[in-house]
Amino acid sequence: MTGFERTRDLVERVSRCGRTADGVLRLALTEEDRRAREIVVDEMERLGMTVRTDACCNIWGRCEGSGDHPGVVMGSHLDAVPHGGDYDGVLGVAAGLGVVSDILAENPRPRRSLSVVVFTSEESSRFSLSCIGSRAVTGNLSLGDTLRFRDEKGITLLNALHSFGGQPEYLQRDCLAPASYHSYFELHIEQGPVLDWSGEDVGIVEAIAAPTRFMLEIVGQQVHSGACPMNMRHDALTAAAELILAVERAGGEESEFGSVATVGVCQCEPGAMNVVPGRVVLKVDIRGIVEKSIRRVFRAVISRLRAVEKERGVKIALTPYCGDSPVAMDGLLARRIEGVCRQRGVKYRRMPSGAGHDAMYMASLIPSALIFVPCKDGISHNPAESVLWERLRPGYEV
Ligand code: GLV
Ligand code: MN
Ligand code: MN
Repeated sequence: MTGFERTRDLVERVSRCGRTADGVLRLALTEEDRRAREIVVDEMERLGMTVRTDACCNIWGRCEGSGDHPGVVMGSHLDAVPHGGDYDGVLGVAAGLGVVSDILAENPRPRRSLSVVVFTSEESSRFSLSCIGSRAVTGNLSLGDTLRFRDEKGITLLNALHSFGGQPEYLQRDCLAPASYHSYFELHIEQGPVLDWSGEDVGIVEAIAAPTRFMLEIVGQQVHSGACPMNMRHDALTAAAELILAVERAGGEESEFGSVATVGVCQCEPGAMNVVPGRVVLKVDIRGIVEKSIRRVFRAVISRLRAVEKERGVKIALTPYCGDSPVAMDGLLARRIEGVCRQRGVKYRRMPSGAGHDAMYMASLIPSALIFVPCKDGISHNPAESVLWERLRPGYEV
């Protein structure tokens, strides 16, 4: 099998872990994730790589180079959003292993060491925190964070890591030594429509939008829906509805700067038809490439929030999750990738990434490159996520 064929085969095998009639269910640090990890570890061993799992449960497959030159790392993640697709993240891990197998077939002892990494929990779906593994190895995750972030069932990130053999007490120990690495490469589907619609096969990412995320807890008064007159209500859900629209409006007003704002979670309590809702939880995700624009969106939401509190007699508490800064990818690597595209006649464009990726944390320590390939109609975080494999080949080869 060629490396490209191996890549496809591995993506197909991993995507069976957690497959349902309605997309993939493979949240981080669950049984489905464990099965996916086992398949990848098997593949690493088959390629003769030494495999180690670090304190944050990231998996590192490595083959040693012939000299002591800084090594090259490739990778991405295996966890998925609920009802997600087959390619988000998995492609970057599988392609890393495909590339290693191609290189080893040509030269069993390359000059630089080659590593492939599976980062833990890139998706924020389980712990409301994204890029957990790549934050950890770049010194951006503390033991306190692993106690603070919990899943829906109240399981802390700390306990989830322990149950997978992780050692969150030793996060510091497993931070990467930048001098040991030459570069990090992540191949990822674009998750937007630009490449699919333009017919270009490669996107060279120049910068990654960063998320500002927080939870809003709106507390009104739970009362009888038949007995309580309209003018005496403090309905938490209608207050939430105003905020959801305010988030959308605030994002829309900054769209010329590429900012976006979304409420992706709305939990209403007690959730009965004959009860005026007393408590609603919203989770808000604001992103952009221009930091000032992200701040303006945030401030607009907060100012509406204060007004809604007064107008509707509800209390609104904000819990921050993250306020990351947009990240530039390495300019020199981008130019070299561009050179390779030109040499090979690959149609490419330079572009930003609206979605978050482990490359944004790796970039804080190691020169990093994110290479996009097209996915059908740009649909992602959706069971319908799909690719035309022949359109992935140029990006893989680059
Ligand atoms: C990762 O998928 C993200 O939410 O950007
Ligand atoms: Mn994703
Ligand atoms: Mn991803």
